[in-house]
Amino acid sequence: MTVPSVDLAGFERYRELLDDPAAFREALDRPLPVCIWANPARISGEALAARLAADGIDLEPLPWLDGAFRLGPGETAPGNRFEYLTGLFHVQEEVSLLPVALLDPQPGERILDLCAAPGNKTAQIALRVGVTGCVVANDRNFGRMSVLRRALDRLGITNYATTHHDGANYPAGAGAFDRVLADVPCSCEGTSRKFPSQSDRPPPGAPGALTGLQFALLRKALQLTRVGGRVVYSTCTYAPEENELVVDRLLSALPPGSVAVRPARIEGFRSSPGLTHWRGRALAEDLHRALRAYPHHNDTGGFFVAVLDKLAPVGHDAVDVAPLELSEEPDPWLNDLAERYDLPTGVFDGHRIVRTSLRQLSIVAGGVRVAARPETKTLGMSFLHTQMAIPKPTTEAAMLFGGAARRNVVDLDRAATETFLRRRDQALPANAATGLAGGPLLVRHDGIALGVASHQRDAGLLTSLYPKGWALAADRSAF
Ligand SMILES: C[S@@+](CC[C@H](N)C(=O)[O-])C[C@H]1O[C@@H](n2cnc3c(N)ncnc32)[C@H](O)[C@@H]1O
Repeated sequence: MTVPSVDLAGFERYRELLDDPAAFREALDRPLPVCIWANPARISGEALAARLAADGIDLEPLPWLDGAFRLGPGETAPGNRFEYLTGLFHVQEEVSLLPVALLDPQPGERILDLCAAPGNKTAQIALRVGVTGCVVANDRNFGRMSVLRRALDRLGITNYATTHHDGANYPAGAGAFDRVLADVPCSCEGTSRKFPSQSDRPPPGAPGALTGLQFALLRKALQLTRVGGRVVYSTCTYAPEENELVVDRLLSALPPGSVAVRPARIEGFRSSPGLTHWRGRALAEDLHRALRAYPHHNDTGGFFVAVLDKLAPVGHDAVDVAPLELSEEPDPWLNDLAERYDLPTGVFDGHRIVRTSLRQLSIVAGGVRVAARPETKTLGMSFLHTQMAIPKPTTEAAMLFGGAARRNVVDLDRAATETFLRRRDQALPANAATGLAGGPLLVRHDGIALGVASHQRDAGLLTSLYPKGWALAADRSAF
């Protein structure tokens, strides 16, 4: 009997790695399920699921990650929803959630995300380390960093700084980090399901073309980690040259016993072990502890993750340096805000206000620690425009504290919320509180803060100050 041969759609070289080539091939042709996770700083997984289900959204919890859900096949545009725009949830591919789950960041830790843009994993890390910890998000591609900032702003994240540096040459003077994520650029073979049509796909890199850079990024990640800390190395490709071979090369270059490969397994998520042989070449035995994710095992994209614990210095290690003193702004700004919006005491606890430009202040979590080198490009969340008669909170700041405001807040119904999100002027709602001040007001729907409107008292008009780049398209609905 002859075994029917399956066309592996360009992945023929991986046939020997696959337990079921036909199932792998079939999975590649199915649309990729959309996955979302509840932002724990804003809502619990249960509350989010109940809210979305009440609106008829079909979703089921991921068996391996609390607060994460897979949407039904019809739910293709969650990014338009009110709950997304107000940072109640984030959209992220299921396999892409694995590296941070395995990095296992702890509250209070200082973590480096060496190749961070567009910021999905930075957001996951930031929410895990909390305001007593911080993430330094680095990427060499400056353009992609603005996408990262927008995502983190929407999610209300204040405990991060950004740098824009070649990760392979990241200065040792940055100080040792508790953990480093090296989610490196790769040939992206595992993302083929994200792009249903061939023409939408990014040009596939030749497998192996980036191995020099990948090795340099992983080596630097280990150098920047404190002894006792952890590095996670990940790619979204199947190519062993970019995965096990990179880790193997590093393990053989390091002093013996300086690094341990830890088991990368997650209960409820089916995975395959890392390779210990490839094309006749034997690799470190411990590499079987790495994780390979194939599309047909969990109906996802493809991924590779290796977890490395640093047990001893590896050479050219980062040293601990005193963090840079941040010049804090004196209190009146916060007092004035608390007064205008009648905020409860303690609403900004654990944060500092730092001037980041002549016109603007940022809010920065107390746990943010940065060094003089590499230069910090941005710090925390943009907070307040100060060069105006009445200082105006940014939209992200309004979303951060607006839920707690008791004065100068307008509650909008669904239709008025959509008008606001489309950046259109509208009449002040008939049931708005009396005595609203002129100038900036906070806007909410269902108790959830959306942003800032300008109140023109004489005309009884609200002008939406929702940012252009975030606005809801005229032909879309948020509910
Ligand atoms: C796989 S993506 C990272 C995805 C990101 N971790 C996330 O989850 O949203 C790889 C990133 O590496 C960046 N990159 C490429 N070369 C780099 C280098 N030498 N140093 C730092 N970043 C680099 C790319 O710009 C790209 O944003």
